[in-house]
Amino acid sequence: MTKIKTICCIGAGYVGGPTMAVIAQKCPDINVSVVDLNEARIKAWNDDDLSKLPVFEPGLDKIVEEARGRNLFFSTDVDKAIDQADMIFISVNTPTKTYGKGKGMAADLKYIELCARQIAKVAKEDKIVVEKSTLPVRTASAIKNILDHTGNGVKFQILSNPEFLAEGTAVQDLLKPDRVLIGGDSSEEGKNAIQALKGIYANWVPTEKILTTNVWSSELSKLTANAFLAQRVSSINAMSVICEKTGADVSEVAKAIGLDSRIGSKFLKSSVGFGGSCFQKDILNLVYIAKSYGLNEVADYWKQVVVMNNYQKNRFSNNIVSTLYNTVSGKKITFFGWAFKKDTNDTRESAAIQVADNLLNEQANIEVYDPKVVEESIYADLDYLNTRTEEENRSLLTVKTDPYEAARDSHAIAVLTEWDEFKTYDWQKIYNHMLKPAFVFDGRDVLDINEMEKIGFVCYSIGKGSSK
Ligand code: UDX
Ligand code: ADP
Repeated sequence: MTKIKTICCIGAGYVGGPTMAVIAQKCPDINVSVVDLNEARIKAWNDDDLSKLPVFEPGLDKIVEEARGRNLFFSTDVDKAIDQADMIFISVNTPTKTYGKGKGMAADLKYIELCARQIAKVAKEDKIVVEKSTLPVRTASAIKNILDHTGNGVKFQILSNPEFLAEGTAVQDLLKPDRVLIGGDSSEEGKNAIQALKGIYANWVPTEKILTTNVWSSELSKLTANAFLAQRVSSINAMSVICEKTGADVSEVAKAIGLDSRIGSKFLKSSVGFGGSCFQKDILNLVYIAKSYGLNEVADYWKQVVVMNNYQKNRFSNNIVSTLYNTVSGKKITFFGWAFKKDTNDTRESAAIQVADNLLNEQANIEVYDPKVVEESIYADLDYLNTRTEEENRSLLTVKTDPYEAARDSHAIAVLTEWDEFKTYDWQKIYNHMLKPAFVFDGRDVLDINEMEKIGFVCYSIGKGSSK
């Protein structure tokens, strides 16, 4: 079996950074280099001040502190890291295409292809290439094609090793994964490569949790897992609407069904909508794959999960407008939370973006407070939509670093992320400084409606409806 001594990971983002930090911590005899074209990002990974790491994840700073400089290195020298590595992880972004064929649906593989070409150009010895990014099925064979036809005659083995970490709990998910999936070729060389990667994980993951499959099963399993998870959220969100109409309470319904061991209790939390870099992208990928095989019913089935999610986001902002007497023009609305979930500074596909866009279209003024998301990210999210000019976004929306300040003189508070700290605020104080009647729209079921009503707020909570 090939014993891996040096690893390179291309892409120092939310997946590459934490994954490599944990591998380096658990395998002190392996040298791990994480490389990225983005100089600012690498600089931040190397910052002595661990609060400046570009990815916020509980527990990550300690792991980086332990391994960095010992066997974990962050650099922009991609070629050197490729050259020295026995095994190369590709962990670059694969956003949904914004142009051309498959626009709005298919994954944009240009970053992956660039990586493959760079590996082919630089490699002078045999390498194992591991795809970590979420990819459409059969990408591994495309990577292999590029490597085999543009390389220097060296041999490449391609493995699929999808990442199942969830942001906010990435470190725990990496330390104690439900399973590790490795897809590879059934040839002798393929089996050898699978064993080499298995050998790395076996340093801390029980071997019965390391599954090996063919490459395509592995690639499709990732899309399927995310589609099933997202489907649960859309299913409970569909029920939240019925709950609001009938007087049922969605959290009671979720508890009742979750106790059925066939259903299980996780991922049944109704919300303003799922976000994150994976769910929507992976489902759209699945839809695109199904369509490309002419499987329209299959495509429509999964597409509905995204349709439901968009409906939930729009329903939330529509409700704010109608409750505030059908006009929010010139009114100040405070957002508590911008991240797509708690305990992360990632905002990709966050429901807050769509809700803000809808309200800004109604000429609302928004003030945002999020404990971890920085101002630049919030404006970048809005500018990316191209709905308004950059100046308009900055004049209509401001970002505050103090929640009480953000809520002062506001008509309504909208809770978009389930940060724990929101529960600990002095809500009486917040209420006292708001315009009356003061409204709170809880899109994450974090606040106790009864308590809020006692203070005097007019409340709406997703799946529970309005108090007045
Ligand atoms: C997801 C998968 O969980 C992970 O395995 C995969 O590798 C990457 O995609 P992530 O997007 O980081 O991880 O977070 P996740 O916890 O899955 O949450 C996704 C979204 O669904 C969040 O916006 C979250 O708030 C929302 N959600 C989740 C709900 O609204 N209700 C729930 O019950 C669970
Ligand atoms: P993920 O959540 O999948 O980790 P991110 O966007 O957080 O996605 O991280 C992907 C990283 O990959 C980015 O920091 C980006 O700069 C980097 N990247 C993309 N293409 C390349 C490339 N060809 N070489 C090196 N780094 C790359």
